[in-house]
Amino acid sequence: MGNYRILSLPGDGIGPEVTAEGVRALEAIGRKFGHTFEFTEDLVGGIAIDTYGIALRQETIDAALASDAVLWGAVGGPKWDNPRAAVRPEQAILGIRQALGLWANLRPAKVDAALVENSTIKAEVLDGVDVLIIRELTGGIYFGKPQERRTVEGRRAAVDTMFYTEDEVARMAHLGFQLARARRNKLTSVDKANVLETSRLWREVVAEVRPEYPDVEFENVLVDAMSMHLIRRPSNFDVIITENLFGDILTDEASMLSGSLGMAPSASLGAMRPDGTGLGMYEPIHGSAPDIAGKGLANPIGMLRCAALLLRHSLGLEAEAVALETAVTEAINAGARTADIVRPGEQALSTREMAEAVLSRLG
Ligand code: IPM
Ligand code: MG
Repeated sequence: MGNYRILSLPGDGIGPEVTAEGVRALEAIGRKFGHTFEFTEDLVGGIAIDTYGIALRQETIDAALASDAVLWGAVGGPKWDNPRAAVRPEQAILGIRQALGLWANLRPAKVDAALVENSTIKAEVLDGVDVLIIRELTGGIYFGKPQERRTVEGRRAAVDTMFYTEDEVARMAHLGFQLARARRNKLTSVDKANVLETSRLWREVVAEVRPEYPDVEFENVLVDAMSMHLIRRPSNFDVIITENLFGDILTDEASMLSGSLGMAPSASLGAMRPDGTGLGMYEPIHGSAPDIAGKGLANPIGMLRCAALLLRHSLGLEAEAVALETAVTEAINAGARTADIVRPGEQALSTREMAEAVLSRLG
């Protein structure tokens, strides 16, 4: 029986609605398994800009560092959309990832058998799909300097910088091989080594780490080819490691295998304790969906699966994580559907009702 501190950062749009269900899920797990969760909540993203003038405050980072885990909703919306604005909601997510040192972003893409018909991909292609994409999250072109506007011969120009050190790559390789071992024993490293120097370094360092894991099947794949394989033969892949921007793009693509962006969770992890647990941040793959915000239409499953990942990775509570994940699968198998996955002619559940359909199955 444990006592855990969770920082809840609902953000904007549908963030608050789904985060509320993540909190309720953890409370339900606490009641069932005898744990107590202390929740603290803070503002991030657009609502923090409106309230404090910045997207992410140092107080929020300090609160996160004093917590066992962070639940993150979503940030952004049309109100704060001006790309030239000095403060933008996205600064919150990028800032907190870096401030907490969360360099590994685990994005599982699994197809629920009951939802195969929701995908635009053919059912036979989706059979057996269970991929874990690990996206590097605190390096690469997202953070490399310089990143700026310039004037070149009187014309507007801009530069972004893709930068990696060998240590940033090596820890990704180790994590990839280790997680592959715990799954189906296959690792695919994705890069653009035929063009980019950072990718050639990536490939070189992964090759140096590889002899420590001779039992794990391994391949290098170029990112353009990978984007094709992901929708042509996704069941061939187990664990995939890749750099930040490639991972951003490939994980949106992979989420479409499951038919709805609303289903998928993600875990952002950094340096973990020797027992494998440690501070992590858990956010659904979906965005703030301003068009449906506040209407009770959002699918809470991505967030409920985030709560399960939080239990597993930050708290080391495997049985609790499995209980929640099983309840999600059972609810979906029993036909519980929010608007994004509802079948023609059937009634869609609200965000709260969908979460209830899951939590009532916890027993
Ligand atoms: C994601 C998002 C973010 C990213 C944006 C909101 C900055 O697309 O988490 O995938 O690019 O990392
Ligand atoms: Mg993205």
